[in-house]
Amino acid sequence: MTVTATPDPRLLAFHQRLPGYAPTPLVHAPHLAAALGVQDAWVKNEVDRLGLPAYKILGASWAVYRELETLYGPFSPWTMLDELAAQLAPHQPLTLVTATDGNHGRAVARTARWLGLAAHILVPDDMVPARIQAIEAEGARVDVIHGTYDEAVAAAAQLADEQHLVISDTAWDGYERVPGWVVEGYGTIFQEIDQQLAEQGAQQPDVVAAQMGVGSLAMAVVQHYRAPGRTAQVVGVEPLRAACVLQSLQAGALTEVPGPHASIMAGLNCGNTSPLAWPYLQGGLSASLAISDAQAEEAMRLLARDGVVSGESGAAGAGGLLALVSGEDASAARTRLGLTPASTVLVISTEGATDPEAYARIVHPGADHA
Ligand SMILES: Cc1ncc(COP(=O)(O)O)c(C=O)c1O
Repeated sequence: MTVTATPDPRLLAFHQRLPGYAPTPLVHAPHLAAALGVQDAWVKNEVDRLGLPAYKILGASWAVYRELETLYGPFSPWTMLDELAAQLAPHQPLTLVTATDGNHGRAVARTARWLGLAAHILVPDDMVPARIQAIEAEGARVDVIHGTYDEAVAAAAQLADEQHLVISDTAWDGYERVPGWVVEGYGTIFQEIDQQLAEQGAQQPDVVAAQMGVGSLAMAVVQHYRAPGRTAQVVGVEPLRAACVLQSLQAGALTEVPGPHASIMAGLNCGNTSPLAWPYLQGGLSASLAISDAQAEEAMRLLARDGVVSGESGAAGAGGLLALVSGEDASAARTRLGLTPASTVLVISTEGATDPEAYARIVHPGADHA
């Protein structure tokens, strides 16, 4: 599949105007490369993205901006966020609403805080307290839905009205505009990677792993790395307990995986693939697999050896590649992906230790965690 997606030329300049913008590091990862049996491995490290411990703020901030611009724009030129906030004042009160497994909701709440808007975030009932507290600390109202992430998504959709803007990173029938902008917002990651590789005189990756919840990040990966002129293979990775993309691919049609989805990869615990992402995943993934919690933990420890603090969902892409090259069909998988000892792979560590207690337990077992 070839994909043509022309990113909005204003995207990077928008992110550069947000407080604390800096490109996140592209880390050379020799331990990961050795474990995969390849020449080079790169890790795009999203442990600190605009002051938050995950990449999601790129999509959330851009989607909020584009939605506000569509509803209330055009805005007069602005440099600082408070100049933008002042232009929104006549439309207040406004509340940004979303469901989340953690990172997206915190990012929407942060964007709301930047713009002087309210935020109402719905979370599934299995979310760990550390993630709920992090969202509340952004000043958001958090409601725990008695059910899964997918039920939280449905509940958030019900709250939409003139004063409540739903900023979801997954799509549903009739709701595709905002999640499309979320995906577009992730494009800054790839613009940065291209520049960082060029600066190092390094080659483009041969294989790129993308961990998948609803599949929006993987859609952005496919849009970039399967575009005309690019040759990388894209591998999608999910938790065994929430493998909605894999099951959909096997069925040849969108397939729901009912909850509970109790994997430790909280950001990936989704039972439904975004219908917006689906055609890109169906046409653009070279391989798709599901991994166990233990495999995610192994990847967290390996990435730590390369100096990358990577949470459970953050490490899942690396975990998937490790599982592929050590599984029963390893040699067939290598052949299918064209993975040789001369290859370069790229993974995106999409979050840091968003559950610090669990991170310490997994990566530093035996240390005193009291
Ligand atoms: C850390 C992290 N990585 C990856 C993903 C997967 O993104 P998507 O739901 O767009 O597939 C998420 C989603 O919440 C996440 O929080």
